[in-house]
Amino acid sequence: MASQLKFVLPLSILAICFLYSCNADSCSSYTFSDNRVYSSCTDLPHLGAALHYNQSSSTKSIDIAFRAPQSNTGWVAWGLNPKGSSMVGSQVLVAFFHSNGTLVAYPTQLDSYSPSMAPGDLTFPVSLVSAEYVKKEMIIYATLGLPDSKTKFNHVWQAGSTVTGDVPGVHPTSGENVLSKGTVDFQ
Ligand SMILES: *[C@@H]1O[C@H](CO)[C@@H](O)[C@H](O)[C@H]1NC(C)=O
Ligand SMILES: *[C@@H]1O[C@H](CO)[C@@H](O)[C@H](O)[C@H]1NC(C)=O
Repeated sequence: MASQLKFVLPLSILAICFLYSCNADSCSSYTFSDNRVYSSCTDLPHLGAALHYNQSSSTKSIDIAFRAPQSNTGWVAWGLNPKGSSMVGSQVLVAFFHSNGTLVAYPTQLDSYSPSMAPGDLTFPVSLVSAEYVKKEMIIYATLGLPDSKTKFNHVWQAGSTVTGDVPGVHPTSGENVLSKGTVDFQ
């Protein structure tokens, strides 16, 4: 019995670590540049992405950082969908290397399945949008004014491998790229 227990305990710790990803890649151990600190984070279940955030309930605005692995020729995006649960209607931030060599990030609305991806306003306030390329990850920083004073939202995230004429190209339409959506509660 005792020897069985010895065996079971390490295994269950392993199982818990697997479920809650207490490995070195977990978002809570991530260190940002510029001494940026966020009070909460979530390792997203697809595309190796993570979302970090700092809620500030008094002003109904939130600071976020979205990270996802990407080569320097691809793009990443993350956003909220206040009116639906998948791509169409999403209010997103996208990042990629512009042909001039700068990693650009800007807001854009996904109004159809082939959105223009042109920079524009969102249906809620967004400010301080910037991006960084660190250890083969694109990181998007922004401050969002949360719509309808809610804290719980449907969110989507995405990654694509091509950018043509400074416009992000179509992402794969199978596998993880169609599963990368869920809900987030900023509270
Ligand atoms: C998040 O909140 C902490 C604690 O209030 C603060 O120190 C930190 O600067 C905030 N981070 C950002 C990115 O605003
Ligand atoms: C590259 O283009 C972007 C988008 O127009 C602009 O914001 C950025 O300042 C440019 N960078 C350089 C080095 O010209």
